Amino acid sequence: MLLVTGVNGGLGTLVWERLGGREGVLAGSRTPERVPAGGAARLVDFDRPETLAASFAGVRTLLLISAGAAEDDVVIARHGAAIGAAERAGVGHVVYTSLSGDGDHLPYALAHRWTERRLRASASLRWTVLRNGLYAELLGVIAAPGPDGVIGAPLGDGRVAAVARADLAEVAAAVALDPDAHAGRTYELVGERALGGAEVAGALGAEYRPGRLAEARTALAASGAQDFQVPMLVGTCSAIAHGFLAGPGGPGDLAALLGRPPRPALEVIAGG
Ligand SMILES: NC(=O)c1ccc[n+]([C@@H]2O[C@H](COP(=O)([O-])OP(=O)(O)OC[C@H]3O[C@@H](n4cnc5c(N)ncnc54)[C@H](OP(=O)(O)O)[C@@H]3O)[C@@H](O)[C@H]2O)c1
Repeated sequence: MLLVTGVNGGLGTLVWERLGGREGVLAGSRTPERVPAGGAARLVDFDRPETLAASFAGVRTLLLISAGAAEDDVVIARHGAAIGAAERAGVGHVVYTSLSGDGDHLPYALAHRWTERRLRASASLRWTVLRNGLYAELLGVIAAPGPDGVIGAPLGDGRVAAVARADLAEVAAAVALDPDAHAGRTYELVGERALGGAEVAGALGAEYRPGRLAEARTALAASGAQDFQVPMLVGTCSAIAHGFLAGPGGPGDLAALLGRPPRPALEVIAGG
């Protein structure tokens, strides 16, 4: 049996659209009653480790979708609970959705790298790491024009090799269905062509007037964002602005696993 966690999240929903209804595939969610029809759903809540033995009973492959944005200790406790429970339940293979290697400078990289290390150190699990690049959808949020039609995100002249979330879901679903073919592999799933604020503005008919990181930090803090979200978003902007997320360019693991060129991130953003 294959169990997919987090199916009511953005990525999990797209994975479930591909896998729901297949024989031997289960949905996992903190809210299994909200999983769309098309297969059995189980409670999967890493914040309730005592429930995970039942969640993972009989599961051979676990597609572990990283569990939300939070402080490192919270995310690490979640992922540690999930992997420990998977080991105890006799799961054979964990496919984990991580963060691209070029994201090492991001404030949320540490919990992903901890989880990768935990999987590699497991005495019983086989594993595959899907290192997902920044979602095109997230870039669309970061670089959304204000009511005045101006994009003020502090991205400078920087660019990011953003990826359509649907492409990452397609890869995750395919790998989880055939885990043996990907055992022990770490894939870098970043876009082929990097985008900057000016291109996003051009596609949206907006004007790009990048602000400064300090202005963004102040605005985010005042917006009601949770404390940990402020450095996450400012750090993401800084990494883009200073050229850390531009990707190597050209086809890589993403195209190879999709068997086609990735969807252009600009299309995702311009399509809303
Ligand atoms: N590459 C990027 O640009 C990017 C951007 C944002 C986030 N991420 C990471 O990628 C992950 C998936 O992205 P997404 O778009 O699906 O994020 P999302 O829409 O925020 O969904 C995250 C899902 O994680 C599951 N989750 C959260 N806490 C959990 C817990 N305690 N136990 C079990 N499951 C839990 C939930 O699924 P249920 O509601 O079904 O329980 C939640 O909906 C995120 O969690 C985050 O780690 C990546």
